Amino acid sequence: MFTESVEKLASILKNGGIVIFPTETVYGIGALATNTDACLKIYSIKNRPSDNPLIVHFADKSEIEKYCEVSAIAKVLLDEFSPGPLTLVLKKKSDSLFSCGLSTVAVRIPDHAEARKLISLSGPIAAPSANPSGKPSYTKMEDVLEEFSGKVDGFLKATEPSYSMESTVLDLSQGKVSLLRTGSIDRRMIETRLGIQVKVHESSEIISPGMKYRHYAPNGKIFISKILPSVQAIQSKHYIVSNHLENSMDKSIPKIARIGFTMSDISNFDKIVFHNLEYMKSLYKFLLDCDKANIEIIYCQEPKDGEHADTIWDRLRKASSA
Ligand code: TXA
Ligand code: MG
Repeated sequence: MFTESVEKLASILKNGGIVIFPTETVYGIGALATNTDACLKIYSIKNRPSDNPLIVHFADKSEIEKYCEVSAIAKVLLDEFSPGPLTLVLKKKSDSLFSCGLSTVAVRIPDHAEARKLISLSGPIAAPSANPSGKPSYTKMEDVLEEFSGKVDGFLKATEPSYSMESTVLDLSQGKVSLLRTGSIDRRMIETRLGIQVKVHESSEIISPGMKYRHYAPNGKIFISKILPSVQAIQSKHYIVSNHLENSMDKSIPKIARIGFTMSDISNFDKIVFHNLEYMKSLYKFLLDCDKANIEIIYCQEPKDGEHADTIWDRLRKASSA
C-alpha cells in the first residue's frame, strides 16, 4: 500500500506490519519498537546482521523520557537539535523497546512532520535506513518502491528526505559524549553547543555494531582523488590495467562516473557539486545512479576543508574499502 494516510499506516504498524517512510535524512524501514517479532522481520527483509541494533524514532521528548534515562547533557542536545538529524544512544529505562539485547537504545525525533504524525499515532518506530544491508541509503521514493515492493506492508507517500545522509549518532550512555557515526549534523555544531570536545570513537573499539560492517558500497570501484582526472586519462589508466591482468578477457573500456567540484570535461554520468553540503546531499543518489548505469570506475574528489568534510570523508572511505 502506497498511501498518504498516516492513519492506515499506523494501524498496519500496530498489527505487526512493516512500513517504509521518509524522514529528513533518508528513508526508514520501520516496525513498532515494542513488537519484537515485527522488528525481527526487518532484519530478514534488509538482510541485516542480527547484532546490529535499530534506531527508535519518537514523536516528542516526553515519550523518550518514558523509555530512557535522559541525562542533563542529553536534555541539552535534545533541546538544541530535536527534532533533527541527531541520534542519541541512551540507557534504557524499560524493557519494552526492542534493543537487540543491549542495555542501551538509540533514539531520535525526525524533523519530518508526516513521519512524526505517523509515530504519534502508532507509538515509537524502530527503523534502520531502508536499503539492502551494505548498500547506500535510499533517498528517493522510486528507489525504495523498486527495492521493497512486495516485501513490506506499506509506504508513506510524503516529503522526500532533504539531507539525504543519515543522522549523526552520539553515545551518551557511558557518561561521556562519544561520536559513533558522523552524519547530517556536523560534529563542530555539537561541540559549539556543548562547549566541550566530542570524542570521536576509535574504529578499533566497537561500540556501535553497525561500525564493523562494510557500508554504503556501490558495485563499481571507487577512487578518491584531490583533482579529478579527465575521462580520457581515467579510461587509458584502467584500460591498461585490465589488459595487464592475467587471464583478463575484458579488453573493453570501463564505464566511468565522477563526482566533485571541478572537471576539465563532462560526461553523462558525472555530477558537479558547488560546496560540501551539496556534495553530502548528492552522494548516495550519485552512487545508486552509478549502480543503475553499471558504472565500473567511480572517481570522487576530496571534499573541501570545513563543514560536512568529516561526513563526506567517512562515507567515501567506507564506500571505497573492499
Ligand atoms: O538518519 C538515520 O539515522 C536513519 C533514519 C531512518 O532515521 N536511520 C539509520 O539507521 O541510518 P541505521 O540502522 O542504518 O543506522 C543506525 C546506526 C547503526 O550503525 C547502529 O549500529 C547504531 O546506529 N546503533 C543503533 N542502536 C545502537 C545502540 N544501542 N548502541 C550503539 N549503536 C547503535
Ligand atoms: Mg543503514
